Amino acid sequence: GGAKPLAGRRAVVTSGPTHEPIDPVRYIANRSSGRQGHAIAAALTRLGADVTLVSGPVTLPDPPGVNVVRVERAEEMLQAVLSALPADIAVMVAAVADWRAAAPNAEKIKKQPGEGPPPLMLTENPDILKTVGHHADRPKIVVGFAAETQDVEKNGRVKLKKKGADLIVANDVSPETGIMGGTRNSVKLITEAGITAWPDLSKDEVAGRLAGWIAERLT
Ligand code: C5P
Repeated sequence: GGAKPLAGRRAVVTSGPTHEPIDPVRYIANRSSGRQGHAIAAALTRLGADVTLVSGPVTLPDPPGVNVVRVERAEEMLQAVLSALPADIAVMVAAVADWRAAAPNAEKIKKQPGEGPPPLMLTENPDILKTVGHHADRPKIVVGFAAETQDVEKNGRVKLKKKGADLIVANDVSPETGIMGGTRNSVKLITEAGITAWPDLSKDEVAGRLAGWIAERLT
């Protein structure tokens, strides 16, 4: 209870996409506005937490009172998150690119007349949530998101286990929902105890409720 139930607590939040370079002018990325992650960083701050927000490239302003670390690539995001440990709370919202170019080109790749498109070899990126969820310095509360277009609940439960999370916030990001890049979100909370569906809310409301959920479990 109280107005600042997270006073004295440290939190690390990831938000936005990652950009994985192919060459100096091209990159691989996921779609992500950063709206939900930034709103969560702001909501945890309002409850008194000391928040580090590790953000990929976004066009959003820094939330007030938050320590923002800007990164481009997944490997940089992982290093920034590990630097923010130990923490009481980790909320991994970033849409991290699963793969990066195995050998990014130092110079811009030029079109070669008569040759086809260049081959692009990919390699796996680190899984930041999974790393944090299984870390020796694991935060007491580890939350992940699951953006799915089908089998939202089943995939969320699998992710909870695999990633070592206490909570997966699952949402259906099928294009017809308008959630991706939009301001509203319709989520299901998946824990060991079961599944709770929240009503259709603004991303700020989801953030506020989630911060409350976290505060309840820490106090
Ligand atoms: O496996 P999937 O990408 O669907 O899992 C989504 C969750 O895992 C999100 O919380 C996301 O921030 C996190 N994640 C991560 N690092 C990755 C991939 C996903 O932290 N490389």
